[in-house]
Amino acid sequence: MLCVWFVTCAPAFADSNGEALFKAQCNVCHTVEKGGEKRQGPNLWAILGRTVGSIDGFPYSNGLKEADWTWTSERMDQWLANPHSVFSDTYMLYAQKDPGVRGQIISYLETKTD
Ligand code: HEC
Repeated sequence: MLCVWFVTCAPAFADSNGEALFKAQCNVCHTVEKGGEKRQGPNLWAILGRTVGSIDGFPYSNGLKEADWTWTSERMDQWLANPHSVFSDTYMLYAQKDPGVRGQIISYLETKTD
């Protein structure tokens, strides 16, 4: 029974929590809906699998502008833990030390795509 509960309930629970965490911790600077406005940071629709720094018209710092790799959940985890460890010149002011919180936000981002 316990396994059934985990399999059927845990992912849904994690997703809804991820949405709340995104709203509380990212939304002030980022929208995530398709075609959403830019705020202090770029729109994050379908960000996983996308090339870093590739939202048209967003004034990225040089590190993101010049990067040519794509966002994976591993890179995203490192980024959210400490953006300056990925790009030393970034102006994203955020850091989340709790891996559980990062994981839930990343799971939520994985659902925001076509
Ligand atoms: C205080 C504002 C702020 C907060 C809070 C914030 N960000 Fe950002 N974010 C930015 C800015 C500004 C940039 C652009 C950074 C640069 O160009 O150096 C950015 C860039 C990004 C990028 C790179 C996008 C791309 O096109 O490559 C991702 C991914 C990202 N943020 C995810 C998040 C997530 C997820 C959260 C919440 C857990 C978050 N950010 C919280 C301001 C913020």
